Amino acid sequence: MTHKFSSGTAVVTGAGAGIGMGISRRLATLGMHVVVTDIDEMRAQAVVADIAGGGGSAEAIRVDVSQPAELDRLAETVIARHGSVRVLVNNAGVETMGYCWEISAERWEKTLDINIHGVVHGCRAFIPAMLKHGEEAWIANLASIGAFGSMPQQAPYIMSKHAVQSFSECLYIELEQVGAPIHVASVIPGMVKTSIFEATAGSDDPVDGQHHRQVMYDMAMAHGMDLDEGCAVIVDKIAANQFWADTQPGMTADSIDKRIAFLRDRAQPKIHAGAQAILNKAREAAL
Ligand SMILES: NC(=O)c1ccc[n+]([C@@H]2O[C@H](COP(=O)([O-])OP(=O)(O)OC[C@H]3O[C@@H](n4cnc5c(N)ncnc54)[C@H](O)[C@@H]3O)[C@@H](O)[C@H]2O)c1
Repeated sequence: MTHKFSSGTAVVTGAGAGIGMGISRRLATLGMHVVVTDIDEMRAQAVVADIAGGGGSAEAIRVDVSQPAELDRLAETVIARHGSVRVLVNNAGVETMGYCWEISAERWEKTLDINIHGVVHGCRAFIPAMLKHGEEAWIANLASIGAFGSMPQQAPYIMSKHAVQSFSECLYIELEQVGAPIHVASVIPGMVKTSIFEATAGSDDPVDGQHHRQVMYDMAMAHGMDLDEGCAVIVDKIAANQFWADTQPGMTADSIDKRIAFLRDRAQPKIHAGAQAILNKAREAAL
């Protein structure tokens, strides 16, 4: 049987590295033409060269997802070139570390613009053309295991992922209500080996945040899931029309169980043991 993703066009944001790159490679291997977009054009071009080297089809376009007009332009360009988009992955996201009051206004705005508004405007830009075309299509928005908990020194990231999870739930229901053949998935990586915690990715973190970032980086490299393995799981779940596209279901279940208990008990917010261990290590590193 031919795979659902063996033809047509896919668009992936933040695809110059990490999960976006892994999903792009996977979709290209299955047979899709992949529009690899990233704020860093060189990275996007390297991914396209890699895909082409393996016999796949891809093109690179520089897109900053924090700029809604760039996403509108991307949708116009891709529809004009290819006629339709069957898979849209709103993947671009950044981590920001530090106490809420120590993070600069610019960094706050940037994080929320990329992580939340990048997803919202990616959907807003592409859905009208998908509806008009009328064929079956898939939208996958990158949430996180962080969408179900709280974590000190990561507030901008954590709140943005709660927002994306909530947005995807609303979008799923809206598309169902209008009878659109468009499936929505909330992608929930647990911990996958990528460059998200690399120091250069958060060079404007406050000092405390930089130690926190290093501990998270070490943890991801020691215990994170292999990138290609994680992306294969994600693509399989999107293709199976699953809303919950998680890489490590045990981690998801644990986080959701804790969230349910917290809400049911109207408990006071508290730090969980795993998060406390990360903070302790970051404090030790700072000494
Ligand atoms: N790696 C994990 O364990 C993990 C866990 C949970 C959620 N996620 C989510 O997965 C997504 C991808 O993360 P990753 O770990 O692959 O990160 P990564 O840092 O390895 O890759 C992110 C890519 O996004 C690009 N990017 C950054 N700002 C951009 C912008 N304004 N416009 C367009 N592209 C931009 C970067 O250039 C980079 O190529 C993010 O939304 C992240 O929150 C990752």
